[in-house]
Amino acid sequence: MRVFVLGGTGSIGTPVLRELIERGHDVVALARSEASAIILERRGATVLRGDLAAPEGWVPTLPAVDGVIHLACDFASDMAAIERGLLDTLLPHLARQGTEARFLYTGGCWLYGATGDRIASEDSPFAPLAAFAWMVPHLLRVLDSEEVAGIVVHPAMVYGGEGGVFRRFARDAASGSVRVVGAESVRWPLVHCDDLADLYALAIEAAPRGSSYIGTAVDSMPVGQLARAFEAPELQVLPPDVIAEELGEWARGYACDQQLSGVRARRELGWRPAHLNPIADIHQWLRQ
Ligand SMILES: NC(=O)c1ccc[n+]([C@@H]2O[C@H](COP(=O)([O-])OP(=O)(O)OC[C@H]3O[C@@H](n4cnc5c(N)ncnc54)[C@H](OP(=O)(O)O)[C@@H]3O)[C@@H](O)[C@H]2O)c1
Repeated sequence: MRVFVLGGTGSIGTPVLRELIERGHDVVALARSEASAIILERRGATVLRGDLAAPEGWVPTLPAVDGVIHLACDFASDMAAIERGLLDTLLPHLARQGTEARFLYTGGCWLYGATGDRIASEDSPFAPLAAFAWMVPHLLRVLDSEEVAGIVVHPAMVYGGEGGVFRRFARDAASGSVRVVGAESVRWPLVHCDDLADLYALAIEAAPRGSSYIGTAVDSMPVGQLARAFEAPELQVLPPDVIAEELGEWARGYACDQQLSGVRARRELGWRPAHLNPIADIHQWLRQ
């Protein structure tokens, strides 16, 4: 397949791009800067220069593609307006290309809100964290679209690779005190970025039109247990307001107590995540 990837330098996009290329797909990737273009080219993609915020400048130059994987997000800008503009330009362009394109939109675990002791699935109602509520109408638009065959993947908390949610713990641990948000008992659903990349590849290759998948390998794990695995001398519990002030409103999600099920992706797509023990992964990482 020829697959167009938006966000191919990101913490999820990097392993997704690698997985697609390893599986023999022809990848075209969007780059908003020269630095990103160099990285993407080095990794084997054909670069299309452009910014999410100005799709009219680059969408007309996009070659015909079989699939699109949208993983680009700028957590500081008005993503509701930027992404609306992107979909308004990109979806009609794809509809005009002759063959139907598959379009994989990235949602996220925080769209399901705090689930507490309930384990949410793709059939559960959305209860999005305020900072990500703009995603819901966009993902519904993609799923219902007649312009493309829409698919949604909702990644759990992603770890491993260059980025990921454990980076902050590792940085904190190096300074002697690991910080968790809300409470040690807050539970996170988790997925290793390599397993998630495998799910993205399976979904763009074979998921039926209109389908959604939660990408979680581990339904939930208490964040205190994860933080303590970094073996820092001290553990601090921060109120959500403090982390929101430091990183932005989106970071309130770190206090979201969730349990999610990844059964559908396993059953329907044959997804077999290899990383089922995040604590063992942390220990291995610390030994490197
Ligand atoms: N990471 C997680 O744990 C997680 C969990 C659930 C859902 N998600 C969702 O997954 C998506 C990707 O997350 P991520 O963690 O991979 O993000 P990330 O590491 O911050 O990567 C963002 C990507 O978007 C690109 N980008 C940002 N603004 C752009 C613009 N204006 N024009 C073109 N490209 C732009 C960046 O490109 P350059 O920086 O190279 O320019 C980068 O490749 C987000 O929607 C996020 O909400 C993430």
